[in-house]
Amino acid sequence: MSESLHILITGAAGMIGQKLIARLTREPRLGGKPIERLTLVDVVEPAAPNNTPFKVTSRTGDLSLPGEASAAVADSPQYVFHLAGVVSGEAETDFEKGYRVNIDGTRFLFEAIRSREGYKPRVVFTSSAAVYGGPFDGPVTDDFQLTPHSSYGVAKAIGEQWLADYSRRGFFDGVGIRLPAITVRPGKPNKAASGFFSSIIREPLAGQNAMLPISEDTLHSHASPRAAVNYLLHAATLDTSGLDQRPNLMMPAVACTIAEQIEALRKAGGDAAVARIRRVRDTLIERIVSGWPHQFEAKRALALGFVPDKSFDEIVAIHIEDELGGKAAA
Ligand SMILES: NC(=O)c1ccc[n+]([C@@H]2O[C@H](COP(=O)([O-])OP(=O)(O)OC[C@H]3O[C@@H](n4cnc5c(N)ncnc54)[C@H](O)[C@@H]3O)[C@@H](O)[C@H]2O)c1
Repeated sequence: MSESLHILITGAAGMIGQKLIARLTREPRLGGKPIERLTLVDVVEPAAPNNTPFKVTSRTGDLSLPGEASAAVADSPQYVFHLAGVVSGEAETDFEKGYRVNIDGTRFLFEAIRSREGYKPRVVFTSSAAVYGGPFDGPVTDDFQLTPHSSYGVAKAIGEQWLADYSRRGFFDGVGIRLPAITVRPGKPNKAASGFFSSIIREPLAGQNAMLPISEDTLHSHASPRAAVNYLLHAATLDTSGLDQRPNLMMPAVACTIAEQIEALRKAGGDAAVARIRRVRDTLIERIVSGWPHQFEAKRALALGFVPDKSFDEIVAIHIEDELGGKAAA
C-alpha cells in the first residue's frame, strides 16, 4: 500500500457524506497518512469542496446500475465509505426503489471490490438501528436479534450479512456501523417519520415554528452529525482483528425523552425558542415511532473506542456551533 491515500465516498451528496468531506478537507489525514485523492459518487452531483489539499473526482452515477460501482473502484481506493442509500420512509413507500438502491447497489459495490484482483480495501458500511424490530423490553443490547420491521431495515440487515461474509472470505476488510437517529439534521425538514426529532430543535433555533406530533414522554436515542463522522473515521482505522468475525456494531447514542430535548432547547434558545414548538398530534407518526428501538447499550462499540456525544445539551451546542455560526435566533 502506498503512503498516501485514496478514499471513495458513495452517497457523497447526502448529509453525512457532506459532513465527512468537510472534516477530511479540514483534517486531510486518515490512519496517520496524508489523503491524496477523494472520489465522490452520488446519483445527484455531489458538491465538491473548494481548496482541498487533495485531488477530488466527482462521479454522478447510480450505484444500482451495473458498471457504476466498478468504475467507482477502478483506481482501487484503500478506504470505501458506503453511505449511498434510500432512507427509511422512501424505502417503505417505494419498495422497488428501496430494494434496488439499498440491496442491489450494495451488492454491486461489494462485487466490484471482490472482482478486482489483489484489492482489499477497508469498507465502512452505514447500517441503521432499523435492523432491530420489537418487542423491546428495555435497551437493545449487542446480541439482540435482528428482526427488522421495515423494508429499509431488511435491506440494511442484508447488507450487514454480506459485509460479514465478504470480510470473512477476505474480499475486503469491513466494518458496519448501526447509526442511531442523527440529530440535529441540518438543512430543510425532510419527510422521514423521525424528522421532527431534529425539527423541534433546528427550526426554533432559526426563529421558525416546528410541529411536535407525539408525546413528550417518548424516549429516543440520538447522535450528532459530528459524532456520526467520528464513528465513520474510527471504523475506518479500527483494528478489525478483535471483531471475532462480527464486524457490525451498534453505535452508542444519547437517550433522552422529548421533554429533555425541549429543556436542552430552552437552555440554548430560551423560552422564546420553546414557544415556537406547536403540538399537533399525529397518530400515524405515533404508531411508527412506537415500533422503533429507543435505547441502546452499545457495550462492544464503547469498548472499541467509539465515543458518543456527552448529552443532548452537547448535541444542541454542536448544531449551534456547526450550522448557526455559534448563534441561535433570539
Ligand atoms: N441520517 C440518519 O439519521 C441515519 C441513521 C441511520 C443510518 N443512516 C444511513 O447513513 C447513510 C447516509 O445517511 P444520510 O443521512 O447522509 O442520508 P442522505 O439521504 O442525506 O444521503 C444518501 C445519499 O445517497 C444518494 N443515493 C441514493 N441512491 C443512490 C444511488 N442509487 N446511487 C448513488 N447514490 C445514491 C442520495 O442521492 C443521497 O445523496 C445512509 O445509508 C443511511 O441509510 C442514516
